[in-house]
This record gives sequence, C-alpha cells and structure tokens, in this order.
Amino acid sequence: MRLAVFASGNGSNFEAICQAIQEGRLAAEVACLIYDRQAAYVKERAAKYKIPAYYVNIRQYAAKEDYEQAILTHLANERVELIVLAGYMKIVGFSLLQAYPKRILNIHPSLLPQFPGKSGIADAFAAKVATTGVTVHLVDEGVDTGPILQQVAVPILAEDTLETLEIKIHAVEHQLYPAVIQHYMEQLRKGATT
Ligand code: GRF
Repeated sequence: MRLAVFASGNGSNFEAICQAIQEGRLAAEVACLIYDRQAAYVKERAAKYKIPAYYVNIRQYAAKEDYEQAILTHLANERVELIVLAGYMKIVGFSLLQAYPKRILNIHPSLLPQFPGKSGIADAFAAKVATTGVTVHLVDEGVDTGPILQQVAVPILAEDTLETLEIKIHAVEHQLYPAVIQHYMEQLRKGATT
C-alpha cells in the first residue's frame, strides 16, 4: 500500500515508519512526505530515504480547502492510498476527509480521550497522573477525537522528568505506529473496517 506521511516538524515517527519498511516489519511504501513548515527537519529525513517531499504552504492559498486541494493533487500523482499523520500540526479539513474516508491515521502522545491537543505529554506530566501513553486513531473532523485503533500505557514514575517521559513516549510511538499501520492495512484489505 502506498502511504503519504504528513508532518510539521522533527519527523522521528516518519523515520520509524521508513525503518520498519526497510526491516520488513511494514509491507508498505512511503510514496511521499507532505510537510507544511519549510524548516521542518523531517524533510532531511525524507531526502535520506530518497522519498519525494512536498512542501505545501497554507499561506499561498485563499482558503484551507484550496490548500488541501493542492495536497490532494500530490496524493493523486503519487497514487496514495493511506494517509499517516505524524506530528502534523493542522486539523484535517473536509476535503481530505472526504477524499480519504477511514484512510487517515494519527498518532497522539497520550491515552485519549485524556490530554488531546498540542502538548499531550506535558499536560499529562503537569497533571501528575500515574499513567499516560500513546494512542493511534482514525482521524475525523475533531481534534484527536476519531475512533481509537490501539493504545499503549506508559507509567509516569516518581523519578521521571518531562524529558525522560518524552523519551519513553517517543520510543513507544516508534514501535507502535508501524505495527498499527500494518494491522490496519490488513483490515482494509479484508474489508473489515466498514
Ligand atoms: C509525536 O509525539 C506524535 O505523537 C505527535 O507529534 C509528535 C511528532 O514527533 N502527534 P515526530 O515529529 O514524529 O518526531
């Protein structure tokens, strides 16, 4: 299956997906990277893996719909079948949702529905909960609200700092996301997602 990864920043999850493919743990191809911030480090990772990377700047469009139409043109050219959000900092709009129904996945660094939004790790740490984690879910029109595919819990220990918690969460993400993508593609093939 041909994937597009959408990212806005560092891209460690993008790289984890590329690595899983190289190691045969994920039977897919990253057809392209879509990124929305020119300085995003993820573009360097795409170059390393020789994956086409398209920068789409929302400021060049009158409306979000036009921005998403520009993205959809890249996705059509690259014959993308599944969209994987990995640190993509925009809310997905109607045009993309309509074009890829049940085919947009997201990873979020908390046990949703707890701590949605931009700073899931820091919010859980500040709330002093005993356990946080990682969620992979389908994307709908809300912020981190779509149907949950899988979650992994990560305990917050007394000795944890925000930095050690971030390291643990990201390590879980890098294992979990490729595995859930693989499983979800198998479900799609069986028609088991409707
Ligand atoms: C991850 O923590 C992911 O859960 C969240 O954004 C972060 C992206 O990190 N949605 P990276 O860019 O993949 O390193």
